[in-house]
Amino acid sequence: MSVKYIPVQWNSNKYLYDLVMLCGVALFLYVFLYAAPGLLSHERPINPQVHNARAFGACAFVMLTVILCIGPLARLDTRFLPLLYNRRHFGVMTVFVALTHASYIVDWYFAFSMSDKYEALLFANTSYGQLQGFPFEAFGIFALIVLIILAATSHDFWMKFLTPPVWKRIHYLIYPAYLSVVAHVSFGVLQDQQNHVFTAIFLAGATAVGGLHLVAALAERRRAPAPAADTAEWIDICDLSQMREGFAKIRLLPEGDRVAVFLHEGRLSAISNACAHQNGPLGEGRIIDCLVTCPWHGFQYDVRTGRSPAPFTEKVPTYALRLSGSTVQVDPRANPPGTPVEPVPVSGSGTAEAGV
Ligand code: HEM
Ligand code: FES
Repeated sequence: MSVKYIPVQWNSNKYLYDLVMLCGVALFLYVFLYAAPGLLSHERPINPQVHNARAFGACAFVMLTVILCIGPLARLDTRFLPLLYNRRHFGVMTVFVALTHASYIVDWYFAFSMSDKYEALLFANTSYGQLQGFPFEAFGIFALIVLIILAATSHDFWMKFLTPPVWKRIHYLIYPAYLSVVAHVSFGVLQDQQNHVFTAIFLAGATAVGGLHLVAALAERRRAPAPAADTAEWIDICDLSQMREGFAKIRLLPEGDRVAVFLHEGRLSAISNACAHQNGPLGEGRIIDCLVTCPWHGFQYDVRTGRSPAPFTEKVPTYALRLSGSTVQVDPRANPPGTPVEPVPVSGSGTAEAGV
């Protein structure tokens, strides 16, 4: 929790995550450059500068692909969640790899140009009207600019300064950036290739990103069925027998938000699943003395009020609940953040409702 902005602490998990990533990048570059140059390079003889550019470009593409697969994988299977928590480090490292790719290109292809090499990059080829020889570098430049903006604003300070909704909207630019990389490679590199190993890696990566997003969206839709006609306003969460003391059930609501319904000391409470800090999954947090601790960075909220304990001031929306027979139901209209809701005791039978 924070009164104002507090930096998120480094811990052993983050060091391990970064170490594994660095080893992965080193291994990829080693395989590309030394272990299997014939397998991954193009057929035309190339100099080391271009070979390095290709290695770093391909590595940045693979890293970006993995980053975009982590989100849907974590939604499909909670075992992938640890990969999600430190995804920003992954993104920042990808920018450095992509920048190295771009600098090799600029320093080699445009170094001997009559004009400034950056001007030459922009104006050497302006044949935008034709497919063959299309200036595919433009797509790479767009993607690189987006990646730099995302990395520069990834720090918690910017999250606080811009507010989480604006920050999140900016970070959705990752999707146009990925499409732009796909266009960058499709329009440029793949056109004059005889060796199809990279093409296969590229197609598999792009298909995995698209396919996983689709599968995760469909799975979520199946898990959150439309409300029944006779309970138009109330959404079924689960049967009471499925709730475990101290744990939550997380459900997607029709408007796209997720609710976390907790059973604590024999009473039910519901708050938004999205932490006010960085949208961490509150429903996966542990609950002690009515306080749920966000698994990402430890912010805490009272499940009855959605408020952080004093002196902290963070708030998340709460939801009204009721029991219909043994079915736990939630009113999908969120209460304003921090609105107290009386918990629903589970011992009674029939329809018991929580009043706001
Ligand atoms: C200023 C930005 C960029 C420029 C000027 C640029 C330019 C180029 C050029 C000229 C090539 C062809 C190299 C050759 O085979 O001779 C290339 C290949 C490639 N680029 Fe970029 N690029 C940029 C940014 C990016 C970014 C941001 C990514 C990915 C995140 C990327 C991924 C790739 C990939 C995967 C290849 C193919 C590598 C291979 O042949 O195996 N590029 N780029
Ligand atoms: S504490 Fe950081 S997302 Fe919840």
